[in-house]
Amino acid sequence: MNSETAPRTIAESRCLVIGAASGIGLATAERLRASGAAVIGADLPSECWPGDHDAGSLAMDVTDPASVGSAVSAAVRTMGGLDAVVNCAGILGPVASALSTSIDDFERILKINLTGAFVVSQAVLPTMAKARYGRLLHISSTAGKEGVINMPAYSASKAGILGLVKSLAKEFALTGVTVNALAPGNVVTPLFQEVPAEQQKAQAAKIPMGRFGTAAEAASLIEFILSPEASYTTGFVFDLSGGRATY
Ligand SMILES: NC(=O)c1ccc[n+]([C@@H]2O[C@H](COP(=O)([O-])OP(=O)(O)OC[C@H]3O[C@@H](n4cnc5c(N)ncnc54)[C@H](O)[C@@H]3O)[C@@H](O)[C@H]2O)c1
Repeated sequence: MNSETAPRTIAESRCLVIGAASGIGLATAERLRASGAAVIGADLPSECWPGDHDAGSLAMDVTDPASVGSAVSAAVRTMGGLDAVVNCAGILGPVASALSTSIDDFERILKINLTGAFVVSQAVLPTMAKARYGRLLHISSTAGKEGVINMPAYSASKAGILGLVKSLAKEFALTGVTVNALAPGNVVTPLFQEVPAEQQKAQAAKIPMGRFGTAAEAASLIEFILSPEASYTTGFVFDLSGGRATY
């Protein structure tokens, strides 16, 4: 690690939050800012996300390497470096049986959730490795560990993230960069509201704590994983499931 430039606390960290317009990403950006970190958010441009740099918000489409590359360069330029990146960009896609899921839908979900994570990794890891310090976190899901009925593409994409982070973690283990995954169970966000009520009920019954998680609880764990204190854990899948995940 380059001890002269590496942050000693999260407050000294320069962070990029991808998928920052909503849900877990939004809560994480707010929490990191409240902790004193320098934070730039990125997301698909929309009415609520102008993507104008001045407001600390960048336009980024994780399926487009050019868009990711230019947003990452802008973040590095603005903050003078990049210490921590969390990629919260993701979609649920249609909740449908495997046989009624079109190949187009399957590929679209994989492209955003899994290929997007690869594209983000390729864009940020060189800067971090060069600085001999970094924290990269992708968001998987309990669905990627267990497989959830009627979410074949979503489950496959989230399982893919587990393999991706374990491989990247080994490749970058000697560079001072950690690469991990967070696997939330059920966190109340706009994405989770897309899960049909009956399926939400079935999932609730599997949670020993008897409640869904909040975006603020996700942000709290994410902040720790992005912090310099989380220095000896890489290639790991952190659970956030109220006890639902058992392995
Ligand atoms: N909420 C849950 O219960 C839950 C559980 C497990 C995993 N997750 C994962 O957590 C992550 C965050 O989800 P959330 O619940 O906060 O959902 P959300 O819908 O509130 O936020 C997701 C964000 O990703 C952005 N996004 C989508 N496609 C994008 C693209 N191509 N490029 C850039 N940004 C894009 C959206 O615009 C949105 O702001 C996702 O990866 C999701 O799969 C969520």
